[in-house]
Amino acid sequence: QCDLQGLGRNELGSSMTILALNTAGTFSGSYHTAVAATNKQILVSPRQGAQQHPSAKRHPTFGFTVQWQFSDSTTAFVGQCFVDHHGTETLETTWLLREEVLSHKDTWKATRVGTSIFTRIK
Ligand code: BTN
Repeated sequence: QCDLQGLGRNELGSSMTILALNTAGTFSGSYHTAVAATNKQILVSPRQGAQQHPSAKRHPTFGFTVQWQFSDSTTAFVGQCFVDHHGTETLETTWLLREEVLSHKDTWKATRVGTSIFTRIK
């Protein structure tokens, strides 16, 4: 079974915790990014999300948002949990990072997109 709970680290060195999943599949936790698009000092930031089929033995899809505490941006991640033949769990995600721009004329440059794989570190 793929378990989203615990800690995860991605290829950038960012880490996140997931506190207990409730029966509805929603969860909260924190995210410590290793990199930022701003020059401000990085702060651990809250994340909130939801997982499908919280009690089934499957490879669930999930999504979460991070409300950055040191910038005006928001990131949304969606992904799926997989287990390889060694039993190692990975969270394969795609993210969108929306930056606050002062005018809608700057919307074209306001969103970054990427992929990220998280593995369990604890
Ligand atoms: C900001 O720069 O305004 C907030 C931090 C953004 C960090 C991004 S979110 C997507 C990517 N994955 C990470 O772990 N960190 C960066």
